[in-house]
Amino acid sequence: MTKILALHGINLNMFGKRDPAQYGRVTSQDIYTSIEKLGKELGVEVENYQTNDEGAICMKIHQAFLDGVDAIMINAGAWTHYSYGLRDALAIFTGPIVEVHMSNVHAREEFRHHSVISAVVKGQIVGFGLDSYLLALRACVAMIGQNK
Ligand code: DQA
Repeated sequence: MTKILALHGINLNMFGKRDPAQYGRVTSQDIYTSIEKLGKELGVEVENYQTNDEGAICMKIHQAFLDGVDAIMINAGAWTHYSYGLRDALAIFTGPIVEVHMSNVHAREEFRHHSVISAVVKGQIVGFGLDSYLLALRACVAMIGQNK
């Protein structure tokens, strides 16, 4: 069965409680549930993984590469803007990667306008809240279809 890894980075476990003006009231659990539900509808297996540990997310990506996971969607949180370690880990993965953000990072503070991971992903989906994740999952499935 096609397997997609949904990665959730630093501080994203606090969705629902943090900065509702930017992120609304959707919780991280709501996000995981919606992704899993859509995964079932699309006939793919999705694993959600959240961590606040940069080393742990890199090791999860290494394992996904070794296990032959079909695609990765990732909201890296603030790591997006500065983690070359995460970028290098993503560059190891050979399947399609979709970058996701709840908020429109380009309409926010200057430091959020630049993503150090965008050069190693297929594309970005930003600004649609929970729907960013669902669009990203559909993009992963479409990309896998093209790779096969
Ligand atoms: C975010 C945007 C990042 O700039 C921020 O650091 C986050 C959340 C988003 O989903 O909009 O933690 O990735």
